[in-house]
Amino acid sequence: MTSEGSQPFDLVIVGAGMYVCGKGTEGYGTVLPAAFEACRQGWIKTIHLAAATKKSADLAKAKAEELKDLTKISPDIRFYPENGDDPRAYMTAVKKASQPCGAIVSVPDNLHFDITKELIKKRIHVQVVKPLVSTIEENKKLIELRNKYNVYGCVEYHKRFDESNLKLFDLIRQGTLGELLHFRINYSQRKLIPLTMFQSWVDTTNIFQYLGVHYVDLIYFLTSATPLRVMSIGMKKYLSGKGIDTFDTIQTLIEWQLADDKGSFLSSHLTGWIDPDVSTAMSDQRLEVIGTKGRYRSDQKDRGVTLTTDDFGCEQINPYFCQFYHDVDGQGLKINGYGPKSILQFVKDTADIIKGKKGPTDMMGLRATFDSSLCISMVLEASARSLAENNTWVRIR
Ligand SMILES: NC(=O)c1ccc[n+]([C@@H]2O[C@H](COP(=O)([O-])OP(=O)(O)OC[C@H]3O[C@@H](n4cnc5c(N)ncnc54)[C@H](O)[C@@H]3O)[C@@H](O)[C@H]2O)c1
Repeated sequence: MTSEGSQPFDLVIVGAGMYVCGKGTEGYGTVLPAAFEACRQGWIKTIHLAAATKKSADLAKAKAEELKDLTKISPDIRFYPENGDDPRAYMTAVKKASQPCGAIVSVPDNLHFDITKELIKKRIHVQVVKPLVSTIEENKKLIELRNKYNVYGCVEYHKRFDESNLKLFDLIRQGTLGELLHFRINYSQRKLIPLTMFQSWVDTTNIFQYLGVHYVDLIYFLTSATPLRVMSIGMKKYLSGKGIDTFDTIQTLIEWQLADDKGSFLSSHLTGWIDPDVSTAMSDQRLEVIGTKGRYRSDQKDRGVTLTTDDFGCEQINPYFCQFYHDVDGQGLKINGYGPKSILQFVKDTADIIKGKKGPTDMMGLRATFDSSLCISMVLEASARSLAENNTWVRIR
């Protein structure tokens, strides 16, 4: 039993890439460390991690062994497929897991819909990494299925858990910035993401859908406004020269309508994935909000911590996202930060539902749900249309 009286349950993780376990990096990703922390806290009984190939499963197993050493947590963890390649190994994992259980889906964007649909039909509570899906129709279908099978469905938008954004949430709600006029976001990542990491699925997404979406959700979270119209313009120079037919950068403008006739405001999002690989962090991200009474600036890359070494050059570290910190009792490392927090929240919510303390549709509040994702799907669909239709403004109905 956990300290809060819930029975530990089984957690299925679908995917074994960079975000799950740090595949292709020196690190351990975010999902697997968060699942380890959930085991330490007594929420999870067994982790079932499903990749699509035995090779990926073995890589995840090696990362898990290193994590065990670092954290001194020894979860019961099983890996699938056990032999050969099997893109449906997650269904074997579901069969092996004790029911009721929860699942985290972290596979390429274009697979989110089909896999999530199947899990819901097995009555599994599910958290999907962003973006939930890229079309309104798919989003609505997932809401319909979630209601039909009475399960909980949420999206892992961890920026809602970052204190620098929660501070802004309060300032906006209290009217400290006055009437909202503009949000300006710059968000970009290194070239190695499209060239190496996402090589196998880079042409199924675009940089606004993969990265920009974080701040579309954040603006919705901060303001509860509704998107009215969207315009996107992309530039193709570097990646197209490398044989990848995708935009290097996309600039998107969104007009939002506030509730209660409080008028509209604009957000502009400059997203890209051709930063030099020697940039000081994987993600460069800045946010500025301008209101009639004030301005809020947040450098979400430069958190004030710089590490310079012979081996890796100069790095700007974000100590608040997903880091390992010493336990006060000296027993290994604890996993902390707004990334794991958002996953642990899903785990605790699932425990409450399984115990019958709450129903799946009671989980609203400030959570990123399938319902709150609808507005993001609207923006993604409108942005894709604008890119395809000569960068026209696309009105959202
Ligand atoms: N929230 C964030 O900050 C964040 C960061 C990175 C990625 N993501 C999202 O996470 C998802 C995964 O991204 P990633 O960086 O791990 O990508 P990745 O390319 O490193 O990994 C994807 C993994 O999914 C596996 N996969 C594919 N089909 C599968 C199947 N049928 N069953 C099981 N596994 C399967 C692939 O083998 C691969 O290992 C994407 O949707 C991405 O947009 C979120």
